[in-house]
Amino acid sequence: MKVGVSNLAIYIPPLYLSHDDLADFRSVPRDKFRLGLGNNNMAIVPPWEDTVTMAANAADMALEDGGIEKDDIGLLIVSTETGVDQSKPVASYVQGLLGIGPRTRVYEIKHACYGGTAGIMSAIDWAKSNHHGGKKALVITTDIARYGLNTPGEPTQGAGSVALIVSGQAELIHFSPSLNAFYSEDVLDFWRPNGYSVPIVDGKYSIECYLKALEFCTGDLRRNIAQETGKSLLSYIDYFIYHLPFAKMANKAHHRLISSLDLRVSEKELERIFEESFQKKVVPTLRGAKEVGNIYTGSVYMGLISLMEEAGRDLEGKSVGVFSYGSGCGAEYFPAYIGEGIRKQVKYLNFAEQLKRRRKIDFQEYTGLYSQSKRKETLNPDDALRNKNEFSRHFFLGIKDHKRMYV
Ligand code: HMG
Repeated sequence: MKVGVSNLAIYIPPLYLSHDDLADFRSVPRDKFRLGLGNNNMAIVPPWEDTVTMAANAADMALEDGGIEKDDIGLLIVSTETGVDQSKPVASYVQGLLGIGPRTRVYEIKHACYGGTAGIMSAIDWAKSNHHGGKKALVITTDIARYGLNTPGEPTQGAGSVALIVSGQAELIHFSPSLNAFYSEDVLDFWRPNGYSVPIVDGKYSIECYLKALEFCTGDLRRNIAQETGKSLLSYIDYFIYHLPFAKMANKAHHRLISSLDLRVSEKELERIFEESFQKKVVPTLRGAKEVGNIYTGSVYMGLISLMEEAGRDLEGKSVGVFSYGSGCGAEYFPAYIGEGIRKQVKYLNFAEQLKRRRKIDFQEYTGLYSQSKRKETLNPDDALRNKNEFSRHFFLGIKDHKRMYV
């Protein structure tokens, strides 16, 4: 039995705002966002999309590309920290839109940005059990990262969804759970109390918490790898994927990783090791963070898709170190091994195509959409359906009688 991920797909919204435009209107030097945060553009959600439709769009692609029937799904998990209801899970809305049948275990997971990894690891355990009846799991990460206007978090917004099929006959990604490293602690670095539409953030502290969790996990992962394989972390891992609230976080994280390896070399040599490994093993994973922004639960999986598109079939046989962090906080650092399924997967990766097709909006449209997200009136289905294409098939029409409506 080869339990793992058999295929995956990403959906990103069709609008974006450039960080240069945002910087100009906020009277901030453009280099602060471009170099200080490392970002170029961020995804903006139009009024006819939400957390649910993005999830259903990504899932549609994953099911179709994998040739998977709705009846093949026995477990549907949606991981999100921007759910649309305190009780009804996003997963139930998605089940309805996809037409997945009633003999399915369906639920939502929340643990800030770590929720996506929690969902995948739960699905892996399920696929290894005797309870799946030969069926597959559909795990979807979906989020809209939104901060207050004119706050430090504003340039780190983004939105998107990643859908992954977990099965017992997976050829794309395998895991070795005995190596995985964990860290969790009760901290208030980033949180969104009930009733708040944007999070409360202690930005600098959140970076400290992230780096503390990374350093702790690196120590355990390093030891686990050495015990099981006799290899060093740097020789064992071919690519490093970090949770990326903004692209420059990758520099901070990789610096912390290299300096925590206890390499006993000069400062200059340490900097050379960092630079070499960063260019080769981290840069190919950054496209999503730079062009889409933070997609919370799906951030590391968008990094994986960025890498797949960049490296293509050469990724076969490679091991990828994935560091997943969620505020609050919870973290898991795990190796993922790319198998021969990459040969087929690269034919279906359309991330670059979706990025190319997006429409750039200006600052006025951005602020208009931001306030419109609290709108009361419902959309005409025909107006929403005008936006239909091979990536977008599900549309949010608004709320009537306290009920969310979709087409
Ligand atoms: P800020 O106030 O923009 O910080 O907040 P800053 O003034 O220190 O500037 C940022 C960087 O730009 C600095 O670089 C400056 O030097 C540089 P650094 O020292 O960090 O390397 N800079 C410039 N560079 C070039 N030219 C210039 C220039 N000016 C300044 N002219 C912060 C930044 C990330 C804190 C803010 O955006 C924020 O609060 N973001 C939201 C929270 C966040 O992203 N936290 C990250 C870790 S926690 C996490 O990842 C979890 C999360 O995804 C949520 C979840 O789990 O659900 C967020």
